[in-house]
Amino acid sequence: MANSTETTETAPARASWSGKWGFILAAAASAVGLGNLWRFPYLAAKYGGGAFLITYIVLVVTFGFALMMAETALGRMTGQSAIGAFRSFGKKFTIIGILASAVPFIITPYYALIGGWVTKYMASYIVQPAEAIADGEFFGGFILQNAESYLWMFIFIACVVAVVAFGVKRGIERVNKVLMPALIIMAIIISIFALTLPGALDGLAYYLIPDFSKFSAELVVAAMGQMFFSLSLAMGIMITYGSYFSKKEDLEHSVRRIELFDTGIAILAGLMIIPAAVAVQGSGETVASTAGPGLMFGVLPQVFLGFGFAANIIGFLFFALVFFAALTSCISLFETLVSIVDDATNKGRKFAIMVCTVFLVIVATIVNLGYNELLSIDLMYSVFGIGEYQDSQLLDFFDFLSNTIMMPIVALLTCIFVGWIIKPKTLISEVKQSSKFTGEKLFVVMIKYIAPVFVVVILVAYVMNTAGIINL
Ligand code: PFF
Repeated sequence: MANSTETTETAPARASWSGKWGFILAAAASAVGLGNLWRFPYLAAKYGGGAFLITYIVLVVTFGFALMMAETALGRMTGQSAIGAFRSFGKKFTIIGILASAVPFIITPYYALIGGWVTKYMASYIVQPAEAIADGEFFGGFILQNAESYLWMFIFIACVVAVVAFGVKRGIERVNKVLMPALIIMAIIISIFALTLPGALDGLAYYLIPDFSKFSAELVVAAMGQMFFSLSLAMGIMITYGSYFSKKEDLEHSVRRIELFDTGIAILAGLMIIPAAVAVQGSGETVASTAGPGLMFGVLPQVFLGFGFAANIIGFLFFALVFFAALTSCISLFETLVSIVDDATNKGRKFAIMVCTVFLVIVATIVNLGYNELLSIDLMYSVFGIGEYQDSQLLDFFDFLSNTIMMPIVALLTCIFVGWIIKPKTLISEVKQSSKFTGEKLFVVMIKYIAPVFVVVILVAYVMNTAGIINL
């Protein structure tokens, strides 16, 4: 991920990015993944299409911008990863870094499970007719059936661990520079094709035109969690990325590029999936009531059928590109786990890789069990009493824990820390070392006042709504 030019500002010497574009590309490879392609479309479908889309975009350019600036500046200023960065301002702040670092431990196992689903689809398009994959029973049959879903998950995990263990990560990222544009081109082609399906234009309207009656506290909480997940915020990762960033480059410009790129791909993924889902299922309402983690896997194979004899090739190419996007993101997640364990144990990188692999295999297996052996367990419903999540699986629970509980808390603590303890001016002068800071006012107002108040209000509203105390 980083090239080996050493910076002089920090000791021990830290690798740094080869210029601004090195940082942008590496951050984009980490940011663009299943969050954009798999998670964003199903949330947008579930939460009323346009209403979700607009909320998401507003959050990205305000809250997301401020938080990403704060995290990267904090990293560049201290030259450290999350735990060290917070600790460098006083021992008692270490806890924020620890909480942030816990998030990738929750996300990586279920990320690997979905990575396994993608791997299975990629392989299926080589050996099975496209019609069989488009069959409504295909997805359910696969995830509920024990052996095979584990096999694909382990294959995906093996790819991730192999890349990290053999140190070929930079090679993969170089390949990714070609594959990412290919993914975009392919997604545009599929989107255009999907829009020709009968009924797809109603789906386009559902996706793009906000229906303000669909607004709810839950929608905003979901959009906020998605923003953290997709931009890799509130989990310490952007702090680490910032620490590799040269003191000479323009941080703000890079942050805006990453946001634009990441959000553009998410919007495109929605365009590819939501109109087609509405075309297949009849109405936005039906899509909203059934949309979940399986949306991409159910809808796209149906779209691919329309390509006739080329369906298998299109299906394979598409899932191969998604596989690479998921792989690079999961590599950066796994790398994060390894460096946290390495720093904490000091027993060397090999040992850390082993510990993280064992952790990943065990926890991912437990998450997968939630779809078969443990299907009857419903933690969201029985532990949290969240009725809307009745029939949810362990994956939903892990996802909820990271995106709805942990990340908002970490984001809130980061805002309080930057806004009120070290003060925004500390990071502003860090940013200004290398460039102007055109979003300075927005940054201060967001970090100090709006973002923390927003997180508290929206979480309280959400909890009260869920508990039935208010009705939003
Ligand atoms: N942002 C990635 C996605 O949207 O798929 C997920 C992710 C990747 C989070 C890498 C964190 C990370 F380090």
